[in-house]
Amino acid sequence: MTRESEARMAQPNGSDVSGGRRLIVVGSGIAGLYAALLASEAGADVVLLTKGALADSNTYYAQGGISAVLDEPAPGDTVAAHIADTLKAGGGHCNPDAVQVLCSEARRDIAGLERFGVRFDVDDDGDPALGLEAAHSAPRILHAGGDATGAGIANALICAVLAAQASGTIRLLGHARTTALIQSDGRVTGVEYLHDGQLKSMHADAVLLATGGAGQLFAQTTNPSVATADGLALAWRAGAAVADLEFFQFHPTCMVRTAEAAESEGNQDPLLISEAVRGEGAILVDARGHRFMPGYHADAELAPRDVVSRCIALHLAALGDPNGHVYLDARVIEDARGAGFLARRFPTITRRTGEAGVDWTKDLVPVAPAAHYWMGGVSTDLHGRTTVPGLYAAGEVACTGVQGANRLASNSLLEGLVFGRRAVESVLSDSPAGRFTKPGWEFDRTPGPGPRETAFAGPGEFSRSALRRLMTAKVGVLRTGTQLREAGAALAAWAAGVRPESVPEVEDPREHEDANLLLAAQLLVHAARGRHTSLGAHYRGDGVPEAHTAGAVAVENIDTQYTMSRKASLVHD
Ligand code: SIN
Repeated sequence: MTRESEARMAQPNGSDVSGGRRLIVVGSGIAGLYAALLASEAGADVVLLTKGALADSNTYYAQGGISAVLDEPAPGDTVAAHIADTLKAGGGHCNPDAVQVLCSEARRDIAGLERFGVRFDVDDDGDPALGLEAAHSAPRILHAGGDATGAGIANALICAVLAAQASGTIRLLGHARTTALIQSDGRVTGVEYLHDGQLKSMHADAVLLATGGAGQLFAQTTNPSVATADGLALAWRAGAAVADLEFFQFHPTCMVRTAEAAESEGNQDPLLISEAVRGEGAILVDARGHRFMPGYHADAELAPRDVVSRCIALHLAALGDPNGHVYLDARVIEDARGAGFLARRFPTITRRTGEAGVDWTKDLVPVAPAAHYWMGGVSTDLHGRTTVPGLYAAGEVACTGVQGANRLASNSLLEGLVFGRRAVESVLSDSPAGRFTKPGWEFDRTPGPGPRETAFAGPGEFSRSALRRLMTAKVGVLRTGTQLREAGAALAAWAAGVRPESVPEVEDPREHEDANLLLAAQLLVHAARGRHTSLGAHYRGDGVPEAHTAGAVAVENIDTQYTMSRKASLVHD
């Protein structure tokens, strides 16, 4: 493998507030794009690295929108109500300080988006058109292009980034896969990355991870193929604390397509049916046409997302069809709002369902829960700092505690924005070369160890699809201690060969992703095994304390092995 060290980036010209800081941003979703733009505006020397094209991100696929209480909210809505809704949906597990920041600073960063050219849909009076989504007590969801909010935001920010690149204020490296964080004296000082088939390195004062999530851990996901837990793996290998990994959100309404339909459609992309559709009045029915949600929760289809996904899974299990699907009935919206409403309000979903052979103005849409969003991630404080000096994280890869055990709908783009901006502020103000201090370090959670347990024979050869099948079967919407133990053993057997705790010594980008996914799966399962009771998106169908089950591996042994294997991989100086 060849290795080229790149020259340090040139200092920015003229006066600025950056103190000449060099920042590497990894990832091109909302957090990465917005942070790169703000940092370059402040005069920092910014490199934006992304493993695919700029538009390859979860952000691009976001439909419903972005929640915010603006200067002129819906009647009766307040920032305090947004805070209360977020805390409630999060199952009491949120960091209240982070939620306060998120909701009270939302309007500032919505204005920031508009400054970079993002245009939200307006109503007949020219005011922002506000949608309602599940578990929000008021309509407060801004959207763009009806149901193409993520694309609208990403396209505008990408244009701004390209303009910054043209004027020389942002350096862009596409199709550059970050493989490791460079560390020196306990501080992150740069990245190693694969580009044009070569391993290269680049140094900086700070690295901001904005790599998004990990939906590819599961066989059914709303996430695009790039969501492979890269940032989590990079940070963990560098010794950063991670938190809340047992909480992975499943979106209730991902359209179920037969393999033949997906093939004939020529489009394998997941087809999310936005929460906003239930916000407009769509209902869920089972194969008998029975509307089942009111029997499970007082808020029926507008209950929090974890509740709706769980009720679908429990209802299907009760019907003896645990791997089946239910139906979303959007015809009732068209009946109430008039013909043509669905096509106007949800043009993308109308087109995509139509391409898949479903006219949702007339037909029921088959749907089932699919992996959507990871509440857990790399632990950060309220300023995007991880526990490793020089390393920052924002967006889905981070765990600020803002999403608790279950994220409130449309709070994810907002988190990327608000905490992406705050991370840039701390990059610009933190002591660049000195030891890291943690002023105002609000919370610090124990790192989630990766289990290296007694392997059990039988998981077969490791492959990404086998991993995804295992995670869906044993670590999905409903989990038991036995399933988690079996998953942990299978993962350990694979890990003994793959060694995901170390950076793979290969140039094949897919092998890097596979190792990242395997490591993330181990961390998730370990965290899930440690939480014996149900909370939010982590639902233990058994509730039996795992420590009491026969054959459980002693936690102290796991911790010892974990610590040793992690240290052994920290050789990037
Ligand atoms: C959706 O439109 O339902 C997804 C938005 C979100 O994940 O918050």
